[in-house]
Amino acid sequence: MSRTNRPPEDFLTAPVFHLSSLDAVAWLRSQPSDSVDLLITDPAYESLEKHRAIGTTTRLKHSKASSNDWFAVFPNARFPELFAEAFRVLKRNTHLYLFCDAETMFIAKPEAERAGFRFWKPLVWDKKTIGMGYHYRARYEFILFFEKGKRRLNDLGVADVITVPRVHRGYPAEKPPAVSAILIEQSSTRGELVADPFMGSGSVGVAALDAGRRFIGTDLNPEAVRLTTERLRAISPDSANDGPREPEQLGFIDTRP
Ligand SMILES: C[S@@+](CC[C@H](N)C(=O)[O-])C[C@H]1O[C@@H](n2cnc3c(N)ncnc32)[C@H](O)[C@@H]1O
Repeated sequence: MSRTNRPPEDFLTAPVFHLSSLDAVAWLRSQPSDSVDLLITDPAYESLEKHRAIGTTTRLKHSKASSNDWFAVFPNARFPELFAEAFRVLKRNTHLYLFCDAETMFIAKPEAERAGFRFWKPLVWDKKTIGMGYHYRARYEFILFFEKGKRRLNDLGVADVITVPRVHRGYPAEKPPAVSAILIEQSSTRGELVADPFMGSGSVGVAALDAGRRFIGTDLNPEAVRLTTERLRAISPDSANDGPREPEQLGFIDTRP
């Protein structure tokens, strides 16, 4: 894997971000072992295809906001390599949060455990209003909470239901940064490095930079990389120093395969 996909050395001390447009697993492979303090991610699950094939398909397919128009799915068969790489890049005593639907969680959980993670519990993101579906319309999503080694949550009083309104008319399946903000406050400290290998519109990156953490992420979709770059630059336009605002000083954006 090309070294250009790695954050430069001084990234380790600068409050910036580094983005890529590589495949999630390829990108994780290009990261050093024991280098990430927290991983929060939201893969494009295979189950999306199933939802498209049943009742809600038509609406999904023809909706302007359909993920069908925008991104490829990540096959369940690739979970073993995904979790193996996630486990390798995470430092000892860290957390992994995986946004997940009710069907995929039964497949993802044992695969993550096989890679070495300890599963604690699913958190619930309560979106406050109903969405799609015919059999009990969808109002929540799960966030699977895993641990590598042992790390204490920063606040033991936080509930396992996170209530934040959904994002309307955003990037397909976009999550509000306020959800990731809670996970970041719970499982990292200022200056630590947060990673998202399926970053979409960059909601995890937004929450990370807002909380004084550093962020690295990737997405296969060039539109996702463009959106995330725009959002993170707006938060951290001169994060490195006072010099001219060259890309290198705004964060490192590497779109080469
Ligand atoms: C559910 S969306 C993430 C949404 C994101 N959490 C947000 O708040 O905007 C999943 C993303 O995974 C990306 N994706 C699909 N397959 C991928 C792969 N193999 N490697 C990297 N990204 C991939 C898609 O392009 C999509 O942007």
